[in-house]
Amino acid sequence: MNPGPMIRTNLEGTVLSSNVAAQNLFGKDFNGKNWKQICPGITTEVWNKILQTEYAFPLEAQFSTLSYIFNHRVDQLGRMVFVFGTDITVQRSAEKQMKQDKKMATLGTLAAGIAHELNNPAAATRRASQQLKETLHKIDLNRQNLYTVRLGPGETDLMLELAQKASEFTKQRSSLTALQISDKETETEEWLEQLGFENAWEIAPALVAIGIEKQFIDSRAKSLSPDALKAILQWVGLLVPVYQLLHEIYEASSRISDIVVALKNYSFLGQAPVQAVNIHEGIDNTLLILKHKLKAGITVQKRYCEDLPPVTAYGSELNQVWTNILDNAADALKGNGEIIIRTYKLDNMATVEIEDNGPGIPETILPRIFDPFFTTKEPGKGTGLGLSTSYLIITEKHKGHLRARSRPGSTVFTVQLPFNQETNTEPPQG
Ligand SMILES: Nc1ncnc2c1ncn2[C@@H]1O[C@H](COP(=O)(O)OP(=O)(O)O)[C@@H](O)[C@H]1O
Ligand SMILES: [Mg+2]
Repeated sequence: MNPGPMIRTNLEGTVLSSNVAAQNLFGKDFNGKNWKQICPGITTEVWNKILQTEYAFPLEAQFSTLSYIFNHRVDQLGRMVFVFGTDITVQRSAEKQMKQDKKMATLGTLAAGIAHELNNPAAATRRASQQLKETLHKIDLNRQNLYTVRLGPGETDLMLELAQKASEFTKQRSSLTALQISDKETETEEWLEQLGFENAWEIAPALVAIGIEKQFIDSRAKSLSPDALKAILQWVGLLVPVYQLLHEIYEASSRISDIVVALKNYSFLGQAPVQAVNIHEGIDNTLLILKHKLKAGITVQKRYCEDLPPVTAYGSELNQVWTNILDNAADALKGNGEIIIRTYKLDNMATVEIEDNGPGIPETILPRIFDPFFTTKEPGKGTGLGLSTSYLIITEKHKGHLRARSRPGSTVFTVQLPFNQETNTEPPQG
């Protein structure tokens, strides 16, 4: 009746009898062998447990590509152990595949987010370097003017001074508003036009950017030849954009570096798996990675406890937990709403609350959200593994708690991690 292997052993584990399925699996000469040595995972301790358990004692075992669950049941009267095996290979490989899919899905989300974040600064760098090339070309064409006017000592000094100002360019002077800057530019443009500049509109913003105004030039103009002054202003008007563009390239490439650093920190790349983890940094890195999903109409408020001590933890796995919870919150909010992240100390545990003001989780499904494969999302969108994985990471690996409470307009996931707890140091699964 049972298509799976059935085995009967004595209390020492010696196989007394077995069915065909068992002998197909373990060989024709299976009877008489010791089950404890054949089934992986049966230590003396486990065997004693089996003997002491009143109910069926399940044990999962792998034989080459096949997965089985063996339920052990002791018959105290007959002083025997009955073992009933069930082939769960199909289920296990389906689960593995789902886990893999989930990983790929997470990876896909992350990759999309990072691509999005890198896109702007990368495009800015490219645009700026192209403009830099064009500007340098213009400077080259303009050099002729400087050669023909012949600069005296006063004029050379002015040139050096302006070159210095240009090279110190960092950003628009912050003390001025956009409107004030625009006024100054108009003023300067008019003045340059009076001096006979044809491209006054092009040079004026550059001069304003390094603080060269009419008054400054007027104070020097008496001792300068008008032609030389014109050539110098023309030249510096082209030089300033070079520094502006270099500055843009610097800013954009710094942004790229920052993203790479955040990414490395997020994944704890090249770092010890278990270490003292700053929870706030982990959450911040995760927020950066999820930025593309949290943009639009979602605001994130952080109410961090300022003196939260670090926890000993698997850093990258904690980040997976923040990712899963925040990802769900973003899904629930459908692009509109608020997420509040609170941290505090409670019962000698680091406590993190992630709340969203989305529609909430119906009471009927709340008890099931941590079940593997439970999802209310359409196929292809949800795998139902985010919360079950998070639950294992928090409770099994870190001996902490993960809880959820919800009503319409407020769904709160609470993670608690002990400060002074040895983490479960088994190697990370899967
Ligand atoms: N913040 C939330 N608001 C509403 N429902 C949620 C929230 N977080 C989780 N859920 C529910 O829990 C289910 C399981 O979540 P999860 O394990 O991450 O799987 P998935 O996101 O792939 O569906 C979701 O399908 C959803 O119904
Ligand atoms: Mg999810």
